[in-house]
Amino acid sequence: MFSLALRDDALLSLRPLEIWHAEEFAAHMDRAREHIRPWVGPAFVTDDLEGARGTLRRYAERQAADGARLYGIWLDGTLVGGVMFVDFNVALGSCEVGCWLEPAAEGLGLITEACHTLLDWAFTTRGMHRAEWHCRADNDRSAAVAVRLGMTLEGVRREFWPFGDTRHDKQIWAVLAPEWQAHRKLAGME
Ligand SMILES: CC(C)(COP(=O)(O)OP(=O)(O)OC[C@H]1O[C@@H](n2cnc3c(N)ncnc32)[C@H](O)[C@@H]1OP(=O)(O)O)[C@@H](O)C(=O)NCCC(=O)NCCS
Repeated sequence: MFSLALRDDALLSLRPLEIWHAEEFAAHMDRAREHIRPWVGPAFVTDDLEGARGTLRRYAERQAADGARLYGIWLDGTLVGGVMFVDFNVALGSCEVGCWLEPAAEGLGLITEACHTLLDWAFTTRGMHRAEWHCRADNDRSAAVAVRLGMTLEGVRREFWPFGDTRHDKQIWAVLAPEWQAHRKLAGME
């Protein structure tokens, strides 16, 4: 469905992450688990093959209803992370994008580029009006992606996010369709 540009001769691809990838996804989760645990929803951090398959099944069922969707990012043939529509509400014209990476794939711009692809599809192909980005308020790398995507910080849900003994604030970022069209021009996408 999607493809990404080559990066320093590395083969990069963005493809739907589906149930038949369960073993690959579980192996990736072994590399990513402790890195992502503080920053993503607890249901996404699974411990074994059955857990990984459960995540993929949940997304498949929601995609079948034109809802949430999950995409993997493969770098030189290895699944290193992904991006998703956490929520995709056609009736409201609103969606939420999320992401994760294993540590070795950070700092390469993979997520910004993959999210560009998803947002372009949501706004241009699917006619969405609004896309959100939710992150823990102390997740600087995630907030930096929202900024690179031209999003605006709309507000903070105070002490919304329990993790360990602490309840963390959660930021809500968003970009609207006309803002996205302006952003993609600035980003040289047309
Ligand atoms: C959030 C997360 C996905 C961000 O990953 P990331 O690698 O920082 O984000 P990107 O893929 O957009 O890459 C940006 C980095 O690549 C660099 N980069 C290199 N080439 C680039 C390019 N062509 N375009 C953009 N950035 C590029 C940027 O300078 C930046 O590096 P820096 O932070 O050292 O300055 C990652 O930190 C992560 O998985 N964290 C744990 C899970 C998590 O927080 N998920 C999000 C929940 S809300």
